[in-house]
Amino acid sequence: MNIEWNNAGAVAGEAGNVLCILVSEDRLADSSLLNSSLAAEWKADIDSINRAGLFSGKLNQIYILPVTGQSRYPIVILAGSGKGDPGTGEIRVLAAHICRAAVRLKTELLDIELPEQLLLREGAAQAFTEGLVLGSYRRKHYKQEQAVYVKPDKITLHPERLVDPALQQVWLQGIKRGSALADGTNLARDLTNLPGNILTPSGLAAAAVEVAERHGLPVEVLDEREIEQRGMGGLLAVGKGSVHPPRMIVIRYQGAGEWTDVTGIIGKGITFDTGGISLKRAPGMEDMISDMGGAAAVLGVMEALGRLRPQINVVMVIPAAENMPSAAAFKPGDIVTALSGKTIEVLNTDAEGRMVLGDGLTYAREWGAERFIDVATLTGAILSILGDVATGAVTNDEQLMQELLAASERSGEPVWQLPAYPEFREMLRSEVADIRNAAGRFGGASTAGLFIGEFAEGLPWVHLDIAGTAFLSKERGVNSKGASGVMVRTLLEYLLSLSRDQPPGPSAKN
Ligand code: BES
Ligand code: ZN
Ligand code: MN
Repeated sequence: MNIEWNNAGAVAGEAGNVLCILVSEDRLADSSLLNSSLAAEWKADIDSINRAGLFSGKLNQIYILPVTGQSRYPIVILAGSGKGDPGTGEIRVLAAHICRAAVRLKTELLDIELPEQLLLREGAAQAFTEGLVLGSYRRKHYKQEQAVYVKPDKITLHPERLVDPALQQVWLQGIKRGSALADGTNLARDLTNLPGNILTPSGLAAAAVEVAERHGLPVEVLDEREIEQRGMGGLLAVGKGSVHPPRMIVIRYQGAGEWTDVTGIIGKGITFDTGGISLKRAPGMEDMISDMGGAAAVLGVMEALGRLRPQINVVMVIPAAENMPSAAAFKPGDIVTALSGKTIEVLNTDAEGRMVLGDGLTYAREWGAERFIDVATLTGAILSILGDVATGAVTNDEQLMQELLAASERSGEPVWQLPAYPEFREMLRSEVADIRNAAGRFGGASTAGLFIGEFAEGLPWVHLDIAGTAFLSKERGVNSKGASGVMVRTLLEYLLSLSRDQPPGPSAKN
């Protein structure tokens, strides 16, 4: 889907396109304010549907106006933009609703008229673009009968009035950045939605190679032999119960001259989590196709970095495995040696994510990472705390945490910090090994995070638990049902803020 910009004032479009006009409650209340807009052409219709109570301009309200008579446009989508000045979060969601309406109408070419108020809003260009691209997403299906799904090929944004070159530059930049962030998110959604039989660890590696090659980024994939030879005992243990062997996947993005000041982003890549010998119960187990949502997120980030080329250095690491019960599987009571040399006592094979991520952090460090952010569908406990609304975060570095929280305000993806009490770390003590992989139910989301933090070896680290937010049971905001691609945009807002040449993204005000 292409988002284009057409600075030709209010003269929009080619004949036959669908037109979308944003109408605020304020403009409806005083319809003379519609005169500067294309909406002036349908003012009488808009007034009467308003009087009939069918459309009031309320935020996210959509009304389809079939156009009779001589207009160039067969259909006009009226989109309510609410009262006053909408925030970037509201703009993003509104754009998603507009795009969904266009999809329902099987629109191929969509023209959107941008009102003055939106044109001048800081961060609106990026947020509006993100919403359009995110709202166009649909999960692939495998039905023999292909339902016709038409999403716009091209969406053209037409400012209501001619804008000056400086503002035009702001919009062109915002469109570019918003498209990259949302396309990265949609890539993550596609991968996360793939079933476990179709996306195995080697399939995930193939997807990573594809991203890397598209952007000319160096990529490395270690197979099970190399994983064993290098002593990646955590990843090896988790992966060995499956006929689909594990992979360690690395992509580097070098945009800042020398390979220093490297950020490591590590994503949990469990392509299916049965729980292993500590088998999960059956209901809902199908959702465990999303247990590589963290891996998908960091891959989505690399896709966007490859397009935007900021001046930063990033190493992406994905430990990928399938967690299966079998004669070859790891077992409760096993003691394994991680890549760092730490020994781990296995108490529960369903606490597999932290074991593969420990090796992921250590390997990112070997590749030069000086700070780490891991993203993982790590615990059921986070669902009890934050539901499917916010991503949980654990850290050993308050400053890095504050930077991520600020990035999450800009992306509109809520992140909530969890405590990292020393008492929680104590709960991971083992009598026979350096650490144990499970500490019981209490504080489960914090203890799980702190297990991973042990492998940061004192370097700044933030853990993002997306077990609640990666895979949704129904559509909400910019997200459709299923995979959300959550944290792609938050990570990018953070990473892009480290680059000298990137203009800041949407403001934090929502
Ligand atoms: N992948 C699961 C966590 C999960 C649960 C993700 C629900 C998405 C939705 C993880 O590997 C897991 O099984 N965690 C266990 C840890 C426990 C055994 C210490 C859990 O949360 O129950
Ligand atoms: Zn898991
Ligand atoms: Mn598990």
